[in-house]
Amino acid sequence: MCGIVGYTGGKEAYPVILKGLKRLEYRGYDSSGVALINSGLKVYKKKGKVAELEESVIGKDLHAHVGIGHTRWATHGEPSDRNAHPHVSNSGELAMIHNGIIENYVPIKNDLLKKGYTFSSDTDTEVLLNFIEDIKKNNNCTLEEALRIALKRIVGAYCILLVAADDPETIIAARKGSPLVIGIGKGEHFLASDASPIIEYTKEVVYVNDYEIAIVRPNELILKNLGNEKQTPFITKLDMELAAIEKGGYDHFMIKEIHEQSDTIHDCLRGRLLVEQSQIVMSGIEDHLEALTHAQRMVIVACGTSWHAGLIAEYMIEELCRIPVEVEYASEFRYRNPIIHKGDVIIAISQSGETADTLVALEKAKEQGAFIFGVVNAVGSSIARISHAGAYTHAGPEIGVASTKAFTGQLAVLAMMALKIGYSKGTISHERYLKLINELDAIPEKVTEILQDTSNIQAIATKYKDAHDFLFLGRGYNFPVALEGALKLKEISYIHAEGYPAAEMKHGPIALVDENLPVVFVATKDSYYEKIVSNVQEIKARKGKVIAIATTSDTVISSMADDTMFVPDTDEVIAPLLSVIPLQLLSYYVGIAKGIDVDKPRNLAKSVTVE
Ligand code: M6R
Repeated sequence: MCGIVGYTGGKEAYPVILKGLKRLEYRGYDSSGVALINSGLKVYKKKGKVAELEESVIGKDLHAHVGIGHTRWATHGEPSDRNAHPHVSNSGELAMIHNGIIENYVPIKNDLLKKGYTFSSDTDTEVLLNFIEDIKKNNNCTLEEALRIALKRIVGAYCILLVAADDPETIIAARKGSPLVIGIGKGEHFLASDASPIIEYTKEVVYVNDYEIAIVRPNELILKNLGNEKQTPFITKLDMELAAIEKGGYDHFMIKEIHEQSDTIHDCLRGRLLVEQSQIVMSGIEDHLEALTHAQRMVIVACGTSWHAGLIAEYMIEELCRIPVEVEYASEFRYRNPIIHKGDVIIAISQSGETADTLVALEKAKEQGAFIFGVVNAVGSSIARISHAGAYTHAGPEIGVASTKAFTGQLAVLAMMALKIGYSKGTISHERYLKLINELDAIPEKVTEILQDTSNIQAIATKYKDAHDFLFLGRGYNFPVALEGALKLKEISYIHAEGYPAAEMKHGPIALVDENLPVVFVATKDSYYEKIVSNVQEIKARKGKVIAIATTSDTVISSMADDTMFVPDTDEVIAPLLSVIPLQLLSYYVGIAKGIDVDKPRNLAKSVTVE
């Protein structure tokens, strides 16, 4: 979490940093701040969103050609002005911003307190900064050397940017476990948590690796490892346009991203799903076909929405490939002692590619010899880089905190993957393979159909916006869609919601049902259809309000339901690509009706890079 930006070069640093912080605000928005170097150090910081910082510095001296900025998602210390970054060292000479957590900061802080250091915040960052200052003073060494010594002694994750009042050109950066990209301009460098603050100025970037330190000046970029050995920066060309990270006429990123899904799914399928040749081309799979088709077991690790995509993939892979699949919350998997067998394939699903729990789970599995396949959206991200093989979802930058287009991109990749492996193994018939290829190819058009007129969904959202609780039910492939619907509603509207397998409802949750409870049924035409019709009746008999997602022209469900949202018919294996869309829209419109900042809901951040 937290977004960091740095600039050194000929431009005014503050406007570059401010614009960058606004682009990174999805990573955290509890407080923000900047440190600028120009005849000394100037630090401005403020609780709240970046706009509040911008307001608070009007009329202040902002002139500088080097600076660093931070937008925070609080870990140590409540959101407040004093806990906002940058932090300044006791001497007043150094300023630092940090994304991550220093786990052993307490003993370090106690040592520093004994030496007479004082702290004006509750953060682990201020402790690390003064630790660096103390090492520099005691060893009479350079700042870079002091940083290197400090980093070897701390435990935790970090991406830090450090500036010194007496060096108006240099930013020193380091990373372990939290992302850092450096943009290379002409006589200038840009540093950021992801490429969005950089893309406007240059497409040439270097992704800094874990345990590397970067010394960055306008005309110089030096990369070193913690052993002080120089590393060759690997320059990558960004494949992203500025328009992809702007709202493009929509009120919010979330609704823009929901509406992009026809295109993003199409982009994901393009060049891979070759309908005329009846082929699926995915080099990440072809290059490792042996490992994937002979897998004894697949274990999917992910968090949140990506975990829901994993549950759907479990159904897909077991049905089409006949390979046993387990789906794990990365945060649980990493802390137990999971049994990994030779021949196991670990599939990591992540939009950001930076989720700390997923990343560490993969590192552990990799150490034990597992083969790692990454299904990732952010190109060049940490998870993409540690995977042995993978497939990008190509959904483009997802900025709204609620994941929408990344989810359908994940499902498209996972469906192609299951089809390709299953067909290679001979566990699906040629006929079914062809049918699914054609159905998948038709999905983008069907998504457009759903999105053509959303007024019905908007009206349903307005009708139920004051409900205190929601229940989401589905069966088979639509059960994880119900979980996803509940998660979306919780995070965007703050309404309590639960997702359940529809048949499981009678084992407890049905006690919640009364005339005030909206129950959303994901009830498209599939092999569970008759069963879910009975479940709808069970809710109606108890006076619950039924909102149904049904297949276009299904009059059975719509005659029972209080309100119905229709989606076009498709094969049940890929039905979630369609049935989730009305749920995304429902939560968006409920959130809007309740006046919530849907792109930045409280307490959340887009990229969860802390445990
Ligand atoms: O970037 P990732 O896909 O690894 O993120 C996982 C979750 O943090 C994420 O899906 C989260 O649940 C979303 N806010 C859900 O909308």
